Amino acid sequence: MWVGIAAPSREQKDGRIASRSCAILSLMLLRRFKPGDIAACLDVFDSNVPVFFTLPERAEFESYLRNLPGPQWVVEYNRRVVGCAGWAVSAQRAHVANLCWGMVDRAWHRQGLGRELLRVRLRDIAQDTRIDAIEMNTSQHTFRFYEREGFAVVSIENDAFAPGLHRYDMNLDCTPSWRASCAGLMVSSTLPEVSDQG
Ligand SMILES: CC(C)(COP(=O)(O)OP(=O)(O)OC[C@H]1O[C@@H](n2cnc3c(N)ncnc32)[C@H](O)[C@@H]1OP(=O)(O)O)[C@@H](O)C(=O)NCCC(=O)NCCS
Repeated sequence: MWVGIAAPSREQKDGRIASRSCAILSLMLLRRFKPGDIAACLDVFDSNVPVFFTLPERAEFESYLRNLPGPQWVVEYNRRVVGCAGWAVSAQRAHVANLCWGMVDRAWHRQGLGRELLRVRLRDIAQDTRIDAIEMNTSQHTFRFYEREGFAVVSIENDAFAPGLHRYDMNLDCTPSWRASCAGLMVSSTLPEVSDQG
């Protein structure tokens, strides 16, 4: 599917786009992950080290990409992957979905891509009636982003990822009203869905 979004600030400054409020939208492609995306996803990871991720987590992320436990999405700009995210049914509890490794290239933060990657997963999960709860963990840097989409913090473990990088466990109950709201949760509904390379 195509996602309309403002180009990043580097392109906004080159004179072609006068201001963000009237920026011409660039087309972003939100599509299913392919095995050939692994290197690009690792680049996205690297751009978020050390503030959001630690270097030791890289091997874990690469192993995850090579053995995906569930659906995985990427977002592209000019054929370059600039974000990725996945989800999976919990191996231990079939009624729980886990959000996995949601990330946007550091140069693309706060451009709306993380929300697209989150919403496409929530929409998927809402359609799976076996699932009645979503669980995920993140850090002190990003938990508020998930709160905005309905997640609640259930526990905090200081220094869990690395000194100064705290773990926030969060969840969201898949209530009937939440499911109903997801039915209308079109990803960037301003532009039509024209392709979905699944
Ligand atoms: C978390 C992450 C995916 C968010 O992606 P993003 O593209 O920057 O977020 P968006 O631009 O879509 O943000 C959507 C809204 O949330 C807000 N938001 C984004 N990040 C936020 C943050 N860290 N704290 C508070 N609000 C935030 C935005 O301002 C925006 O608000 P608006 O609707 O008023 O405009 C991104 O910060 C990231 O990749 N972080 C590194 C990886 C990471 O820590 N992932 C966590 C799970 S593994």
